Amino acid sequence: MRVTEPTALTLDEKAALTSGANFWWTKGAGDIAAVRVSDGPHGLRWTDTDAPSVVAVSKPSTCFPPAAGLAQSWDPSLAERVGVALGRECRDRNVDVLLGPGINIKRSPLGGRNFEYYSEDPLLTAAMATGWVRGLQSQGVGASLKHFAANNAEHDRMRASSDIDPRALREIYLRAFHRVIQDAAPWTVMCSYNGLNGVLVSQNHFLLTQVLREEWGYDGLVVSDWGAVADRAAAVAAGCDLAMPSPGPGSDAELAAAVRAGLVPEDVLDRAVARLADLSRKAALGRASWAGREAGPGYDANAHHALAWEAATRSIALLKNDAAGDRGPVLPLSASESLAVIGMFAASPRYQGGGSSHVTPTKVDSPLEALTAAAGAVTYAPGFTVDGSGPDEALVAAAVAVAGAADATVLFLGLSAAQESEGFDRATIELPAEQVQLAAAVAAVNPRTVAVLSHGGVLRLAPLAAVVPAILDGALLGQAVGSALADVLLGAVNPSGRLAETVPVRIEDTAAFLNFPGEHSHVRYGEGIYVGYRWHDARDLPVEYAFGHGLSYTSFGYSGLSLAGARDGIEVRVTVTNTGERAGREIVQVYAGLTGSSVSRPPRELAGFAAVDLLPGESQEVTITVRRADLAYWDRRVNRFVVEGGSYTVAVGASSRDLRLTGHATMAGDGLRIPLTLNSTITEVLADPVAGPLAGEAFGTLMPVDDPAAADALGVDLLSLIGSSPIGRMISFSGGSITREMIEQLLAAANAAAG
Ligand code: BGC
Repeated sequence: MRVTEPTALTLDEKAALTSGANFWWTKGAGDIAAVRVSDGPHGLRWTDTDAPSVVAVSKPSTCFPPAAGLAQSWDPSLAERVGVALGRECRDRNVDVLLGPGINIKRSPLGGRNFEYYSEDPLLTAAMATGWVRGLQSQGVGASLKHFAANNAEHDRMRASSDIDPRALREIYLRAFHRVIQDAAPWTVMCSYNGLNGVLVSQNHFLLTQVLREEWGYDGLVVSDWGAVADRAAAVAAGCDLAMPSPGPGSDAELAAAVRAGLVPEDVLDRAVARLADLSRKAALGRASWAGREAGPGYDANAHHALAWEAATRSIALLKNDAAGDRGPVLPLSASESLAVIGMFAASPRYQGGGSSHVTPTKVDSPLEALTAAAGAVTYAPGFTVDGSGPDEALVAAAVAVAGAADATVLFLGLSAAQESEGFDRATIELPAEQVQLAAAVAAVNPRTVAVLSHGGVLRLAPLAAVVPAILDGALLGQAVGSALADVLLGAVNPSGRLAETVPVRIEDTAAFLNFPGEHSHVRYGEGIYVGYRWHDARDLPVEYAFGHGLSYTSFGYSGLSLAGARDGIEVRVTVTNTGERAGREIVQVYAGLTGSSVSRPPRELAGFAAVDLLPGESQEVTITVRRADLAYWDRRVNRFVVEGGSYTVAVGASSRDLRLTGHATMAGDGLRIPLTLNSTITEVLADPVAGPLAGEAFGTLMPVDDPAAADALGVDLLSLIGSSPIGRMISFSGGSITREMIEQLLAAANAAAG
């Protein structure tokens, strides 16, 4: 398909193309057609563009589980199927780009938009988002990978700079973006509101051009987050191709003037326009792929609701399931027992977050209705309010009365929409005190009490776990919340969700505690690479529920671990057996670590995972490939990822703290050699196979590092004393008898020998 070349457009036309026409449309010029975008991500927030878009109520679409829920499925193929369904809904409304997925790392449990993000771990995040993008784009609809990058808090979100060291930036905050770009080629990337190391992301040349384009080879479009551009010329020059939503003709004219004044090279603007033309071409092909279908694209709302149900069931994590009395674990409940259903979230479920991702569902399954339909005798009491008025004695008394009269109690607890949303961070991870008090009062009269949680961000669960024997974590489950929870509670579905985020014992234990949300528009990422379980494990801190944790109504055994190291990764094989009495799904997790690494590293990092469905008694060998790239650390000396050679510890298990089998795999390293310079330390020079002996010969008498007499004279051996000094400083210490030329010759010989 032919599209207009930038050269065929005037400068003013080109400048105008790089900003939106309105909230949801890009502009067109020549045969570059305008493109329609829409939020996103867990459903289609389609609003009429004639309406004031920022607050317009969207038309109904399927509300799938938001990322915080879906991530708990640990199922990229499910994310792909959700992506396909979203693609169909977008096509149905002629939407060319859906603004998602959100893949920022959950740095602090307090992050206000954590519900829109997958995990504290880049690998899990990347795997889920890759599936989602592939599914969406298979329908001829583009994704917008957001928010690029290091947008991990809502506080001061349009100004605050995320101040991050290179290792943390690369290993934690950019890793998932790179992986999804490599594996799924999203049509667009959305640059975030915040700054990075002092430079606003929308005008950050390092991030948008050097890393994204030059290092990663990304050739799609960079669109700004809505209102993220403060300076059009600086943004285009940095690599932000499209400013959304619509800064207006005055802003376009300013950009054109900046180009005329030579402040922005015209070829940079041309490249932005070429990418817009390319997006327009992709969108046209996407639309064309649906044209001519007999009944138009359409979609089956019931089938999509069924998929939302499946996704929700897979995303429910059973955190605790103790015995109450002599009847064994409380869950699953039996449909023949009488149930007290308590908590207003049973009748008015919380299933998605607030803000730009908020969609109007096609329908909502209420847990109360679903349980009433499936179980025999159900009584209901709201138990509490979420209006902030605190405990209500009458509501508690009514709840205790129904709980005392029932065989079992299901308590629906959680956070209301007003307590967590886009736009602000949470101040606490506590469950509201009135809900904990209610749980204690109810469990005191009915020991068979199950707590069901709805929330977007992590909650401190110790007070709740102290009073109830069972906890089912629903995070946010989308519009099929009620039927999915009822099916898990009653055992029609065996839960297989796993936490995608650590549940800490205390907020004070979390990595970012002292540096969140920052001050004076700077957020210091002082914990570096130690985010989430990496932090808790490195500090050997207790956790309430570990990353990757989730129980089942059956049990699984692990045996026969075998590891095969190859050049491009490690092949992990393990046999998993369903040792219980129900069919179930296990999420097999692989963690890798390198004891004795030359750099600071967490004891273990998620390196792969897979799901296996097993009938009672059934065994299956599971193969998981750990990619070599996932073993690498970022070496700031050479500005690239490096795989160290060595014996990697590979542990396989059911969570980051339930590791069942451990083995070792030897990997050849990348053969990194840092050239020796005058700034290399004496220890580094002596350790070099060529420079070491030469230095010993040449300077041995002046630097008698092995001489016991020298050690006696100084009270310490000489190497301990001077080993960390750069070799170049020996010129001065030797009074000039070691010359710069002598050292340079020696270093050159060593560097030449190393090739
Ligand atoms: C959000 C984006 C969203 C955009 C359009 C922004 O405020 O940060 O995630 O896609 O608005 O609604």
